[in-house]
Amino acid sequence: MFEHLPVAPPDSILGLSEAFSKDSRANKINLTVGVYKDEQGRTPILDTVKKAEASLLKNETSKGYMPIEGHPEYLKAVTELIYGGSGIDLGRVAIAQTPGGTGALRVGADTVIRHFPGTRIWLSNPTWANHGSIFQAAGMETPVYPYLTADKTSLDFSAMVTELKTNGRRGDLVCLHACCHNPTGIDPTLEQWREISDLLAEKQMMPFVDFAYQGFGDGLEADAKPLHLILEKNPEAIVCNSFSKNFGLYSERVGSVSIVSQEAKNTEAVLSQIRQAVRCNYSNPPRHGAATVAAVLTSPDLKSEWVAEVNSMRDRISKMRSMFIDGMKQATNVRDFSFLSRQKGMFSYSGLNAMQADWLKNERGIYIVGTGRINVAGMASSTMPTLCAAIADCLKAT
Ligand code: LMR
Repeated sequence: MFEHLPVAPPDSILGLSEAFSKDSRANKINLTVGVYKDEQGRTPILDTVKKAEASLLKNETSKGYMPIEGHPEYLKAVTELIYGGSGIDLGRVAIAQTPGGTGALRVGADTVIRHFPGTRIWLSNPTWANHGSIFQAAGMETPVYPYLTADKTSLDFSAMVTELKTNGRRGDLVCLHACCHNPTGIDPTLEQWREISDLLAEKQMMPFVDFAYQGFGDGLEADAKPLHLILEKNPEAIVCNSFSKNFGLYSERVGSVSIVSQEAKNTEAVLSQIRQAVRCNYSNPPRHGAATVAAVLTSPDLKSEWVAEVNSMRDRISKMRSMFIDGMKQATNVRDFSFLSRQKGMFSYSGLNAMQADWLKNERGIYIVGTGRINVAGMASSTMPTLCAAIADCLKAT
């Protein structure tokens, strides 16, 4: 059966990280996968996570199965974190714990497609490299809406809206990045979010919101505002969240999928369908990561300490973005990188092309994604001069 299987191509993001690990050059820099690093290049375990884990280790009494939908206190706390302040009746939210944001996207897609075969989902062009694969694996068609202007430095809002208005159909899903658009770091303004919200409501298209970077844009509450604006006009929505980034729990795989229905009386049926999708995928979720998040979010002291930790990660990223812009200004006058100051979150879309990404990897051991996406959270003050000089040389050589 397996004799003639071809070798699959490496993953466009994780494959580069694997190649980086094998690179023996001492001054190599990894700006590929979206993982936060501190000034020393470490991906730290948050202090609040360490404290919560210590108490879990002491007090845990069983490793029995979790409910299919996940850890009860976690689900309550996550519902509050995402929807608190939106004004919606939280009884309308059917929520399940998932293995990271990726698991959330797949469970959400599986739940929909089982009952609405032929459902399409609109993706921004560009979007996270894995979005298309996940939704296609679930059996969905993935038409795209334009997102960037031709120079790739700003949102082309009118092209985005025109495409969805013209070719969107009632019942289509529309995948939106709640904040810190991956890969561009370019988000709509709140006024534009209001227009998106009106458009989806008018066309009866379903918001499918990927919320993987809460806290990395403008703050935990501010980053939920676009979602809350969507919910003001749209009675139903699907939301996927992740604690990989804002809790640094990458390898624990902690996220959630939630489906908001028009009325609380629908929630039980919706949750029962999500549970079915979970049961035939991985049966029920793992405990540890969710128990850790629940312990932090339900303790007022730990929660405020965690908010400060998220704020400090965001501040460091934003400092690195400014340093990079200044560094590039000094290193070259071939290209102006000041447009990066309008981008938010872990990533910046640098405008570098696939050939330039290859040049940086081959000539200097600097790894960025082939689309030109740079993980700003992987930059450090100490390596900034090397990075900026390499990009300046690359622009000259290519
Ligand atoms: C990324 O975009 O780099 C992250 O979301 C990690 C991943 O799985 O691709």
